[in-house]
Amino acid sequence: MPQTIISGEQSRRQLAEIFRTLGAGKFFLICGSPFDRLPLRVFFENIGTSYVRFSGFTSNPVYEDVCRGVDLFRRECCDTIVAVGGGSAIDVAKCVRQFSVLDSSKDYLAQEYQDSRIPMIAVPTTAGTGSESTHFAVVYKNGRKYSVAQRSMLPDYVILDADLLRTLPLYQKKCTLLDALCQAIESWWSVKSTEESTEYSKQAIEMILQWQEDYIQRNSREAAEKILQAANYSGRAINITQTTAPHAMSYKLTSLYRLPHGHAVALCLPEVWDYMSTHLEQCIDSRGVEYVRRVLVDIARTMGGGDSQRAIERFRMLLREFGIDKPTEHQRQKVLETLTKSVDPARLDNNPVKLNENTIMNLYRHILKAERD
Ligand SMILES: [Fe+2]
Repeated sequence: MPQTIISGEQSRRQLAEIFRTLGAGKFFLICGSPFDRLPLRVFFENIGTSYVRFSGFTSNPVYEDVCRGVDLFRRECCDTIVAVGGGSAIDVAKCVRQFSVLDSSKDYLAQEYQDSRIPMIAVPTTAGTGSESTHFAVVYKNGRKYSVAQRSMLPDYVILDADLLRTLPLYQKKCTLLDALCQAIESWWSVKSTEESTEYSKQAIEMILQWQEDYIQRNSREAAEKILQAANYSGRAINITQTTAPHAMSYKLTSLYRLPHGHAVALCLPEVWDYMSTHLEQCIDSRGVEYVRRVLVDIARTMGGGDSQRAIERFRMLLREFGIDKPTEHQRQKVLETLTKSVDPARLDNNPVKLNENTIMNLYRHILKAERD
């Protein structure tokens, strides 16, 4: 089923119509605690369809919490899933949707997936991950990150309601916006990029740069609408290409320093970008070095930078304006080794320029401000 995206003022009012279309008898609402502060809470209470709420998960959701969600979903005999929240709530919902059609006596992560027909609606309350428009989710088990992917994990309906962003804490708005920007850039240079994904990336970057100031500094509704749309484009871009090295390198930074996802990715991206633009001879994109060189020029132009170095500087300037700092602790060799070990170079085949273990360690050294070798 293709995804239906409903946006604009009062778009949430169409939920009742969607429930009628789906014939929903009882829905399973997956949301974080900020839900209680949203006008949606009262709206759901009066919508005329019964629901069961599940909020028993943390950001960077763990497998055990997802399993508890699956058990509750089954026990309550719900027929529809509604996710309201940021990337974590939507990722949990996608996993509940997928796992609930599998064998509960076995490890869900070890089973072969099949399409789930349980209808799902996603209502993002942050503008960043674009998770509402991707068919994969991230879940942690025993400290290890797992990607769960299946075609039918793409939500059937998406409600993009900018009013839901108005009360977001400023730091969260900055981190999520940076996640969207990084995803759009990474998707553009990914070896899996297509004409369609490139168009989404370009639009996302242009909209973010044009509207970020009004969104962050003036909290304008129009800007929130544009940034929410841009984040959705960045989600649609990585739905085609997935992410690349900066995302892969960010996950351990997130868990070691408890940095929000967008903050950690934004620290990694300029260092990887800088390295790639000066080491194009190590290109692994089958379309060739000249192709990747042109892509980097196009990204730089869209960033308003002219060339990669100026575009990277523009990106770093945005980090300074947002107050996105590097972790201050001076890094010991052991921490660098832990970070480097968390990234498997063989799994960076999506990145257009080859990165080996030494390179990754050097990049982490720059990211953490430690001295060069
Ligand atoms: Fe991301």
